[in-house]
Amino acid sequence: MAQLAIKGGEAVIKPGEVKNWPPIDKTDEELIIAALHEPSQCRGKYTKLLEEEFCAFNGNKYAYFTNCGGSALQMCVAGCGIGAGDQVIVTSYTWPSSASCIIHNMAVPVFVDIDPETFLIDPAKIEAAVTPRTKAILCVHLHGLCCDMDPIREIAKKHNLKIIEDAAQAHNALYKGQKAGTLGDCAAFSFNQNKCMTSGEGGLFVTNDKEIFDRGLTLTGFGDMQPTKDTDSFPAYAFAHKFCNNEITAAYALAELRKFPYYYKQLLANAKTLHTILQAANIKGLKLPYEPAICTHNWYNYNLRVDFEALGMGDKTPAEKSEFRHAICRALQAEGVVCCVWQRCILPEMTIFRAQNAYGKGYPWAVPGASDGVDYSLKNFPEAIKYCYSHIAIVQILRAPNDEQMAAKVANAIIKVFNNLDELK
Ligand SMILES: Cc1ncc(COP(=O)(O)O)c(C=O)c1O
Repeated sequence: MAQLAIKGGEAVIKPGEVKNWPPIDKTDEELIIAALHEPSQCRGKYTKLLEEEFCAFNGNKYAYFTNCGGSALQMCVAGCGIGAGDQVIVTSYTWPSSASCIIHNMAVPVFVDIDPETFLIDPAKIEAAVTPRTKAILCVHLHGLCCDMDPIREIAKKHNLKIIEDAAQAHNALYKGQKAGTLGDCAAFSFNQNKCMTSGEGGLFVTNDKEIFDRGLTLTGFGDMQPTKDTDSFPAYAFAHKFCNNEITAAYALAELRKFPYYYKQLLANAKTLHTILQAANIKGLKLPYEPAICTHNWYNYNLRVDFEALGMGDKTPAEKSEFRHAICRALQAEGVVCCVWQRCILPEMTIFRAQNAYGKGYPWAVPGASDGVDYSLKNFPEAIKYCYSHIAIVQILRAPNDEQMAAKVANAIIKVFNNLDELK
């Protein structure tokens, strides 16, 4: 049996073999240089082209290019008319921006546990979290897999709730053939450096609803885009930051959007190769990600999970399990696999939610009635906690221009490490 690289053996993937993400070529260079020569460096020609082409690509009517996905999310929440004293339901396992966008609108996030197979908000647990204060369900299409929207839509309809999509990781992910970003009332995409569509940093606020769009826009440009009745210029509503992006970044995003069909095809082919080899290998102690038949994953993140029961380690503490999972991750990295441990704790465990103090003096939780029915006890989120200590995330190594050969090497490295787990104990 080959010796693990972390123990001095030869790595499966050699230094320099993994190609950079994103692959920069003439499309990026020409558009970026052209943008530099534009008379307007903010919200000019390239931003307009990006917004129009993204709308055409994704099936949205309105789009606004932001400086990041987090600000696009904040615009979604504002766009839905959510404010002080309101509650928004969101998954307990996600990136903090999925919940901080709620707080930034002075509303309170209400967390729900995840489905243990999809790692997404468990629709069966949502209705119990609805209170008279609930205004929206924020669906995070985590790892590039869409939430199960039909039951979520039913709950939203019954309780008159808006649906906001956090599609930061879900470019071109499909639910019953329909694209992420068109499944609810409005959505946010991220273009940060890790995403399947990137411009280094950036985001998009999208919707088909003009009212939501206009309300969301009140958070941009210092708030000066606040619609005004008495004058066309600078209403000086003055409540916002600057969420707009610049022309150079827009040109970069536009180039990447135009190359996306190739990226997407390659990513799906790579994930399929990896998945097929790992399935056939039937490795003890390894759980593979699950793709429901009604969804098409975009494989932003191909998630491995360590099956501690199968390894006879079911009685270990969460800390011991987490440490062993880290050891596996380090061994995979030594084999040349680009992988990491993503979120290590669930959102209700994070300091801001334990302290329930964001804007000082306990706000927004201290707004009268805002915390009614809100319970952040960790016992409410067993599946999300389990996921934290068992997962390993494989992200950029599956992206173009890395191809199926690289995906096969990743599979071989995983098989090698899992066949030698005793060496890591
Ligand atoms: C699920 C999710 N939501 C929101 C964000 C925020 O996006 P950005 O980093 O562009 O602000 C991220 C970023 O990684 C994310 O993964």
